[in-house]
Amino acid sequence: MLLEVRDLQVEFTTRDGVAKAVNGVNYSVDAGQTLAVLGESGSGKSVTAQAVMGILDVPPGRIAGGEILFKGRDLLKLKEEDRRKVRGAEMAMIFQDALSSLNPVLTVGAQLSEMFEVHRGMSRKDGRARAVELMDRVKIPAARERVGDYPHQFSGGMRQRIMIAMALALEPSLIIADEPTTALDVTVQAQVMDLLAELQRELNMGLILITHDLGVVADVADKIAVMYAGRIVEAAPVHEIYASPAHPYT
Ligand SMILES: Nc1ncnc2c1ncn2[C@@H]1O[C@H](COP(=O)(O)OP(=O)(O)OP(=O)(O)O)[C@@H](O)[C@H]1O
Ligand SMILES: [Mg+2]
Repeated sequence: MLLEVRDLQVEFTTRDGVAKAVNGVNYSVDAGQTLAVLGESGSGKSVTAQAVMGILDVPPGRIAGGEILFKGRDLLKLKEEDRRKVRGAEMAMIFQDALSSLNPVLTVGAQLSEMFEVHRGMSRKDGRARAVELMDRVKIPAARERVGDYPHQFSGGMRQRIMIAMALALEPSLIIADEPTTALDVTVQAQVMDLLAELQRELNMGLILITHDLGVVADVADKIAVMYAGRIVEAAPVHEIYASPAHPYT
């Protein structure tokens, strides 16, 4: 398995005491596979993803137990420096809102290029060339002309493509997409989702897709995990769950 989350527990310390946001989650995803994570608002989908990515707010958050095995290594036992390397190059996350994830005062080209300069030691010029390639790859029209534009100069759908380009820059083996198309209108949602699925197949990445869109799930997922109150209450291959859901929430 590429990623295996075992009995993960995450708590938040609040004024009213300790809240268990994630209470014994188990799930796994392999290379080339798509795991869809569904569940009501507040059930712990994003918090689980943040724990896997290593971007949990600590404090008030705390990982109280469990293991996050990535390529066989428990990420929770790594030193912060090694953890950072994994996060930069081997796994990447795509969020709902590209505008708040991209840097507003840097051009898109500079942000993409930086990935290659920092992680691959490339020159500014080579980094720029790779940025244009990436923008082409995520089907941004006239990439060469637009590489010097700022995030706010792109439409919502195009910004989402740029975030996908950032995530894919270093060809990670795992992508976590947390409601990547929720902020987009329906036709653009489909295009962005198709693009993500296509690149995932091409690069044989594992994909964890958090979504409320059951149409998308039926289309792209291999298996589903349904979360409820901090736990996985149901997990199965996608056609099984659609044919015979077992838990009431499902
Ligand atoms: N920084 C934080 N401080 C305190 N509690 C938090 C924090 N982040 C998340 N929580 C709590 O953890 C629980 C799980 O939240 P999470 O964001 O994972 O839900 P979700 O399943 O992603 O919901 P949604 O579908 O609305 O995105 C919630 O009760 C939430 O209030
Ligand atoms: Mg969420």
